Amino acid sequence: MQKVLVLNGPNLGRLGSREPDIYGAMDFDALTSAVNAKATQLGLTAEVRQTDSESELISWIHEAVDTGSNVVLNPAAFTHYSYALRDAAVQVTKSGLKLIEVHLSNPHTREEFRHNSVISGVATGVIAGFGVDSYLLAMTQLASR
Ligand code: DQA
Repeated sequence: MQKVLVLNGPNLGRLGSREPDIYGAMDFDALTSAVNAKATQLGLTAEVRQTDSESELISWIHEAVDTGSNVVLNPAAFTHYSYALRDAAVQVTKSGLKLIEVHLSNPHTREEFRHNSVISGVATGVIAGFGVDSYLLAMTQLASR
């Protein structure tokens, strides 16, 4: 069974109470349940994790490379400035695995600093702006190949 690491960066553990006008009312536990249900439906094994730590997120990307897992990644604010995370992400795609960058909101409709992603250039693809469906679409894509 294909294993997918669904990795989430800083402040995403605050979903539900954090800016619900932008990120919606769903909390992180509900997002995790929705992703796990989709994985079951698609015949994938998903492991959903969240951290506020750049170092921990990078270690999980290394783990994906070492265990041959595809990755769905919401890098949160690290999207916009973490070259260290980009250097980790490129190891995923260069090893023949997939890394799909996802966002709940569409960063291009928001503040200018969110318009640039240092991750997109090394990702397999990017899905943004569909709330939790961004994750579910990414899972569907991984299952289709
Ligand atoms: C986000 C968008 C980022 O700009 C922001 O820093 C986040 C969440 C999203 O899912 O829409 O924390 O990645």
